[in-house]
Amino acid sequence: MITHNNGLFALQGDGFTCLLQVNRWKLLEQLYFGPTVDLSDWGAFACNPGIGWGSSVLLETGNNASCPDAMPLAWSGSGRGDYRESPLEIGVSTDLRYESYEILEKPRNMVCGLPCASGQGEQLRITMSQKGLKLHLYFGIFGGAMTRRTVLENTGDSTVAIHKCMSFLMDLPGELQMTTFDGGWIAEMRKHTAPISEYRMVNESTTGASSNRHNPGFMLSETDATEDSGWVYGFNLIYSGNHYAAAQRSLQGFTRVMQGISPDNFCWNLEAGEKFETPEAVMTVSNRGFGGMSAIMHKFVLEHIIPAYWQYRERPILYNDWEGCMFDFNQRKLQSLAKQAKDLGCELFVLDDGWFGARDDDTAGLGDYHVNKKKLPQGIKGLSERINHMGMEFGLWFEPEAVNPDSDLYRAHPDWALTDAFSPITGRNELLLDLTKPEVRDYIVDSITNILDNANISYVKWDMNRHSVALGAKAHRYILGLYEVLGRIFGPRPRILLETCSSGGNRFDLGMLCYGPQIWCSDNTDPICRLEIQNNLSYLYPQSTFGAHVSAAPHAQTLRTTPLTTRGNVSFFGCLGYELDLDRLLPVEQKEIKEQIALYKKYRTVFQFGTFSRLKNGWQVQKGKTAIAGIFRKRMPAAPGYEQLRLKNLKSDKHYRFRNRAQELRIGQFGGLVKHVLPVNLNPNGAILRTADRHMTMHDGVQELTASGAALMNGVTLLPLFRGTGYHEHQRTLLDFGSEVYIAEEVSNDKS
Ligand code: GLA
Repeated sequence: MITHNNGLFALQGDGFTCLLQVNRWKLLEQLYFGPTVDLSDWGAFACNPGIGWGSSVLLETGNNASCPDAMPLAWSGSGRGDYRESPLEIGVSTDLRYESYEILEKPRNMVCGLPCASGQGEQLRITMSQKGLKLHLYFGIFGGAMTRRTVLENTGDSTVAIHKCMSFLMDLPGELQMTTFDGGWIAEMRKHTAPISEYRMVNESTTGASSNRHNPGFMLSETDATEDSGWVYGFNLIYSGNHYAAAQRSLQGFTRVMQGISPDNFCWNLEAGEKFETPEAVMTVSNRGFGGMSAIMHKFVLEHIIPAYWQYRERPILYNDWEGCMFDFNQRKLQSLAKQAKDLGCELFVLDDGWFGARDDDTAGLGDYHVNKKKLPQGIKGLSERINHMGMEFGLWFEPEAVNPDSDLYRAHPDWALTDAFSPITGRNELLLDLTKPEVRDYIVDSITNILDNANISYVKWDMNRHSVALGAKAHRYILGLYEVLGRIFGPRPRILLETCSSGGNRFDLGMLCYGPQIWCSDNTDPICRLEIQNNLSYLYPQSTFGAHVSAAPHAQTLRTTPLTTRGNVSFFGCLGYELDLDRLLPVEQKEIKEQIALYKKYRTVFQFGTFSRLKNGWQVQKGKTAIAGIFRKRMPAAPGYEQLRLKNLKSDKHYRFRNRAQELRIGQFGGLVKHVLPVNLNPNGAILRTADRHMTMHDGVQELTASGAALMNGVTLLPLFRGTGYHEHQRTLLDFGSEVYIAEEVSNDKS
């Protein structure tokens, strides 16, 4: 709801209020952004009683209170008294003052070529102006989240060169810290937190993509905020290109925060009569800690970002041939893999890279989307029909934005590649196609739709592996071109499940999620690394947006050997898939995978769409009467003490059946120690034990009890851990990197 009274505006969403005030100098003050209060409460937040600050540039001579440098603002100019960072740079001073407001219905899906929050929502437009310029500030309400974007309009008669135009600016009170998510290839989403100081803290990408170096999502929080308490703000940008966010504390104790397109090398010439639209930013606030903020952000993403058809729609369990085969496959191999994947319970078979052109490795063929008949004599149509006939859906990999210089496409159209004044430099042997050119966009749309419409393809993996697009305004035009292409291909084909990818999580952002509901989080599928990647993604993105696959051990990126149970248990908390050579599976591994898939199918909606919580020792998802927790252990100590599991979001007065997933222990992992449990002393390196290890397992401890929600939320004592006193069926024999899954299901209270 949006209300207005005498220069005061209140935006009331689910659980939050934003109060704005047009002050007597017609600047827009940010009075409050926090848990719900009333418009009439505004006086509690006003902080300019007319005293002002010394040594300031004043809008009204002699009136110290007219100092913009000391005001908490929702927008600001430059060179006119506010010397904090400005959200707008056009090469000269700007002095935009309030002109008017309007309450509008939110446009749906797209604004000027940019995706934006869709669905029910109200919107406030505040217009500020100066001679020759108008600035429209849009504030939207989407459930528990607020969105903001900016439109700059040239109302003069000469060109305005925009060097910087942020999507929002906000001055917030209190001592805050900033958390960003940084990294690189196979090292996405490393969390860094630092107190906001007087120097500027910047979270920015300049590679042309939103990047794995610095995810556009970030958080501000009180320095003593915890998972369950304290004020936490979440911010993100619905954009896939260069982004920028800055936070800085002022002498007066406000944190100035802003976010938008990166100004790095940016220059956009706004001609007379034209408008420039920024991407939409989203912000949430909670006084219930990081968990409270994440819950609001997840709901926003699920209900206002994910394409309508896929909202809360269950995702299939997929098998992807990449890590198992790489470029080395033929139709027979794929069919054999598909058959085995089907037997294990997979529902979708995905053919990754290597199926077209001369693409036998990553040096050639990219851009030439004609099937390699040597590998696939029956073409994609023939293969997809075979897979469909086995009872599985079929999906296909593309990397439409890039080209290998060694390709027919590049030889025919070298000018289609995005280059600069120097000789081309490649990344993964690729150049990007210049998506700012209409003929390039047409080529991509035609070549991809031609394949999609001539075979039964229900899933597309859209990859992008050249990490650097272009500079400045061209980078923005590239992203506009990308959105146009995605809209033209997938808009008319809403049922195709689009999973986007960029060498893993190099473009994990809300812009891409507006087209495809899930993203390949990382090429790193080591479950111990995934604990960090998925955990940190969960601050700002719901788990149904994570492509999470079980792969082989030792792991290709870390050489770490982890139990198959843990690889499954971590992938459960996302969209489960398998990505390993099934021909190499042992019978015990096949059995384990079948059990994993059966469990995931039973609780799929809880895993994918349940309320996600970060626990002290793991994660939890909860939906309806079911809560499922995964607890994960990195290193097993000697003589471990008792361990407790505290569940969340249960009903205190209801009773729950609580049990863990029965897990099996590989015999081989005990080596010569098996002599303690077997009547005969077997050679740990001998054939008998190796054969036994392929076919036989030992049971790990199973705990089962019924207790109230109150008890489970206050901490269940779990079965003892292995403590060097021998194997016991009623203990948890977890090794390093061991993990478990616990399920609590509400039962009728009559049993209590
Ligand atoms: C990228 C992706 C991988 C795989 C390969 C194929 O690295 O992230 O998942 O698709 O490309 O070349």
